[in-house]
Amino acid sequence: MTPLAVENAVKTFRQGDRRVTALAGVSLSVEKGQFLAIMGASGSGKSTLLHLMAGLTSPDSGRILIDGQDITNMGDRDLTLFRRRHVGLVFQAFNLIPTLTAAENMALPLMLEGRNGSGVAGRIDELLETLGLSHRREHRPDVMSGGEQQRVAIGRALAADPAVILADEPTGNLDSTNSESVCELLRDLSARHGKTIVMVTHEPTVAIFAQQVCVMKDGRLIAQFATGELAGAPDLAVKYQACLRAEGTEAVRHGGTK
Ligand SMILES: Nc1ncnc2c1ncn2[C@@H]1O[C@H](COP(=O)(O)OP(=O)(O)OP(=O)(O)O)[C@@H](O)[C@H]1O
Ligand SMILES: [Mg+2]
Repeated sequence: MTPLAVENAVKTFRQGDRRVTALAGVSLSVEKGQFLAIMGASGSGKSTLLHLMAGLTSPDSGRILIDGQDITNMGDRDLTLFRRRHVGLVFQAFNLIPTLTAAENMALPLMLEGRNGSGVAGRIDELLETLGLSHRREHRPDVMSGGEQQRVAIGRALAADPAVILADEPTGNLDSTNSESVCELLRDLSARHGKTIVMVTHEPTVAIFAQQVCVMKDGRLIAQFATGELAGAPDLAVKYQACLRAEGTEAVRHGGTK
């Protein structure tokens, strides 16, 4: 079953007395174990799309299916429970609780489910090991590097073993070394652990870790390409710019206004 599908999602926002179209009909399907990066200029709708996939906002029209279930018409309570079990969220800000240790921060979603005891402890130990953080188990966020804190946040997102991980600029607050370690972790999670990952990023050096790149412009998906045959981040940057340019040309050819 496809872990994540977006069907013709439209989303508009009111800004004062005008309406802004953040998503103008986006369809996208992500297969199990796929690591997909979403790129696009500021304001192109990347975060809006990710928030819709997470059920944090609902579309004006269209559907979002996670593990085959339509989340678009779920009530708030059902959606909160569903999200906790099926979707792991990672943001630019790590949003860790400063008074809790790495292990406690990661266990939080399980505690919220009323789970505790040796099952939870075993699960967290296993995750700490996967994340290379076993030595940080009892440490609080303030003594950890940014990369370590983001890995704890990824651990928290993974705790309930969700089908889908959604990450909005997860390396935005990290230096290049920490950014690379987080990207390697995400790549491993998809390649070795079969996690389905969608990550928004501006950076070609980050997107190159994904298998596929989707390019957004003005609330639409204008291109998708695989990274496998690219020589590296500079090559990806060239390809990305070419997608944006080609789309502009096409809009002009078809009498568009852009
Ligand atoms: N809550 C909101 N209220 C009003 N307008 C919004 C809201 N959220 C997004 N928008 C508008 O929708 C459009 C898309 O925004 P979005 O945040 O999805 O862009 P983005 O691609 O994530 O940009 P960035 O790279 O800067 O994070 C923008 O024009 C933005 O101003
Ligand atoms: Mg954004």
